[in-house]
Amino acid sequence: MQRLLSGIKPSGDLNIGGYGGALRQYVKLQHEYESYFFVPDLHAVTVYQDPKELHQRTRDIAALYIASGIDPDKATIFLQSQVPAHVELGWLLETQAHFGELKRMTQFKEKSDGKDTVSSALFTYPVLMAADVLLYQATHVPVGDDQKQHLELTRDVGERFNNRYGRTFTLPEPIIQDIGSRVMGLDDPSKKMSKSNPNKNSCVHMMDTPEDIRKKFSRAVTDSDGQVRHDWEQKPAVSNLIEIYSVFSEEAISVIEKRYEGQGYGMFKKELAEAVIEKLQPIQEKFYQIVNSSELDRVLMNGAKRAAETASTTLHAAKKAMGFVTF
Ligand code: TYM
Repeated sequence: MQRLLSGIKPSGDLNIGGYGGALRQYVKLQHEYESYFFVPDLHAVTVYQDPKELHQRTRDIAALYIASGIDPDKATIFLQSQVPAHVELGWLLETQAHFGELKRMTQFKEKSDGKDTVSSALFTYPVLMAADVLLYQATHVPVGDDQKQHLELTRDVGERFNNRYGRTFTLPEPIIQDIGSRVMGLDDPSKKMSKSNPNKNSCVHMMDTPEDIRKKFSRAVTDSDGQVRHDWEQKPAVSNLIEIYSVFSEEAISVIEKRYEGQGYGMFKKELAEAVIEKLQPIQEKFYQIVNSSELDRVLMNGAKRAAETASTTLHAAKKAMGFVTF
């Protein structure tokens, strides 16, 4: 069976962008792959996190995995900081990553833009991500479009290591869906839907109430030609809404276009909000049942144990290949 690994950072409330690009795929793919879903909490602290909030958000993401339908008996769910091999392999791989290639990472450029100082961890973050993936010999990594460059770096670093020290790592393929891999802000279709956007109406959170969701979609920008048609070039705002509709209703784009043909945007936006609410309601209910439960602790403890076993085999092989004394 091929192996899958992916994760969502606990650095803000998870929004429906992360659901479209990542979480939705996890739930489907767990049946086809031996799967590892982790919470990359060590990645979150590359920018300051309030300790109490980090603690709660880490549990939130793990609970969301389960509430969305990931089966902890099938997939391994764990916290990155519970498996020290990530940091150790991260260091070994930093010796293989080039300063120049890290400088070219668009996420680093965006996140450091205009700041007087940023942490050095923000700069080396993609190498830790490479370690996350390579440690588990993952063959596939489901992500949204914005992580494509990081996965290319993962492959480059893994390949460089393999060429220098002998084949140690599996080089992973990204899984990026056509629909839902780039969910854009409701106020501006040129910007990714993101937890960090200060405009509250830009981003729908997984835990938003039905009233909030209705309000946000009713205020979403569209365009003036009134046609529900998917065309990123000419109609980016409407195309974004159609994709969100498709993700949440699991209907094809053409079915949605047909349903609202010649009707303007009013009913389309209303029913889009209802489709999102319908999908989120059971997830939210389950989430609140488990987020502070001891069942979640058990899942995470067992997950860390299972993950550490797989991770230590690869770490040992990598250290041995590099010439460290191993026993
Ligand atoms: P993060 O936490 O920013 O996002 C988690 C996942 O959600 C996807 N995503 C989106 N997809 C579509 N539209 C959006 N608006 C949107 N916003 C977020 C992201 O592409 C991602 O798949 N570096 C990673 C976390 C990570 C990781 C890993 C992922 C660390 N190690 C190893 C995979 C494998 C990150 O910051 O994602």
